[in-house]
Amino acid sequence: MKNRQDKFDALEKKREQALLGGGRARIEKIHKSGRLTARERIHILFDEGTFQEMGVFVTHRSTWPGLAEKKMVGDGVVCGQGLVNGRLTFSFAQDFTVFGGSLGEAHAGKILRLMDMALDNGAPVVGISDSGGARIQEGVAALAGYAEIFLRNTLASGVIPQISAIMGPSAGGAVYSPALTDFIFMVDKTSHMYITGPNVIKQVTHEDVSQEDLGGAYTHNSKSGVAHFMAEDDEDCIEMIKDLLSYIPQNNLEDPPFVTPVDDPNRQAPELRDLVPNDPRAPYDIINVIKLIVDDGEFFEVMPLHAQNIVVGYARLNGHSVGIVANQPAHMAGVLDIESSIKGARFIRFCDAFNVPLLTFEDVPGFLPGTDQEWNGIIRHGAKLIYAYCEATVPKLTVVTRKAYGGAYCVMSSKHIRSDYNVAWPTAELAVMGAEGAVNILYRKAIAEADDPKGERQARMDEYTDLFNNPYVAAALGYLDDVIMPEATRPMIILALENLLNKRQTLPPKKHGNIPL
Ligand code: HXC
Repeated sequence: MKNRQDKFDALEKKREQALLGGGRARIEKIHKSGRLTARERIHILFDEGTFQEMGVFVTHRSTWPGLAEKKMVGDGVVCGQGLVNGRLTFSFAQDFTVFGGSLGEAHAGKILRLMDMALDNGAPVVGISDSGGARIQEGVAALAGYAEIFLRNTLASGVIPQISAIMGPSAGGAVYSPALTDFIFMVDKTSHMYITGPNVIKQVTHEDVSQEDLGGAYTHNSKSGVAHFMAEDDEDCIEMIKDLLSYIPQNNLEDPPFVTPVDDPNRQAPELRDLVPNDPRAPYDIINVIKLIVDDGEFFEVMPLHAQNIVVGYARLNGHSVGIVANQPAHMAGVLDIESSIKGARFIRFCDAFNVPLLTFEDVPGFLPGTDQEWNGIIRHGAKLIYAYCEATVPKLTVVTRKAYGGAYCVMSSKHIRSDYNVAWPTAELAVMGAEGAVNILYRKAIAEADDPKGERQARMDEYTDLFNNPYVAAALGYLDDVIMPEATRPMIILALENLLNKRQTLPPKKHGNIPL
């Protein structure tokens, strides 16, 4: 019969096994590949001493020959809760050293329980993927595990923030759990996401593509728009996740955390006077505008490498978190196209779901013309941006720095779609279109028949600019609350934001809307 001490020793041994995952050799291999282990990642994520693991001794129940006799304590995923910068957070981290981090029934069960607890407790989930996907030997039971995770992802959407960090392989249907979450982080060179890998693609479409080009971090951050952030390495990735969490609330019933500000709310920013060029076609970087206005110049950009004609991200104004949406005149003149509409819409919907007020900077010449855009559905995709702004009931503030033309004027958080506080700089132009386009349509005949067509065109353009290309027509109609000097933007916006913090607005009762997908 075992004595008490033997039992204590057995526990220690089991715990040691759990901590070692697939063993030292496999851990070394992970390190050599430039990755950290699941436990190391968890250790960096949580505040020292706060992480409490759940399901430590869970093992699989598979009877598959070869697997049945090979039980690994924890079954390849570390799950638990703790504090991240003092706030309760739930996290699961797949352990590639155990069965390649593959997901079987027991492994999935741990994740499901964690997700249920996160939802019950109203706290975010950070899922760290490093996995060969469905555990082949567990067959349909593994697929069932994924399906149940998808269900939890969907039910939790808009209730608790869900963050995915891809820190190794993520292949096949497994990619859809991260895709259902709010934000995807990927690590440069060591993470990959794809539905089918390069070999299958070669067989099916005869295309030659490397793993990196197909589904590496840069591809998904720049080209596909699947991922929102690209980190240099695992540590950088986890630090970025912590930064993101600092801007968002624990759940949809709470407000974002308030961070005691250092920056003076009444600070003027005289540099803003010179940022918009005199030439209406000349570019400038809207990120410089944003940084001069927000607290301490800190802007946490989301999707910085994708659809760069729109800029989205988080900042604080007098300590209050805001989601910023801005046209970027430095990239394709800030025009709205399919990708930028989708990027903007998804960001707006997250902010609205989680009570983050929206601040819009507008300088947009309109929607991008062309068959490529039309045939790929700019009508449907542009409508997403309209839908997202119209539906959003959080405080909405808009600053028109320069162009607000055509349909894009309506879309970009205009007063007509329930924006709360709209101002323009004196350099703003709110009109159906720019002077040149307008004159070419309205006066084509008169210009052609004039003795001096060039002079006639210029005279008509000057007349149009005086009459329409300014903020005062819109201001006179009440479509702008004020026209302000650029340097006064920070104090004015902060005042408006703080007056709106208790805003409550509702939508007509419905099951859910039907956003044009
Ligand atoms: C069981 C797996 C596994 C899996 C890897 N392993 N993937 N075991 N099921 N899906 C095991 C390997 O057998 C190996 O075990 C160990 O994990 C490490 O794998 P390696 O291949 O040695 O590692 P590496 O060379 O780094 O390659 C990693 C990999 C590769 C690219 C992920 O393992 C791979 O291609 N795996 C299969 C990926 C895949 O097709 N998964 C199914 C996707 S479909 P030993 O003991 O030999 O070290 C899917 C459906 C989800 O997931 C559906 C949801 C609806």
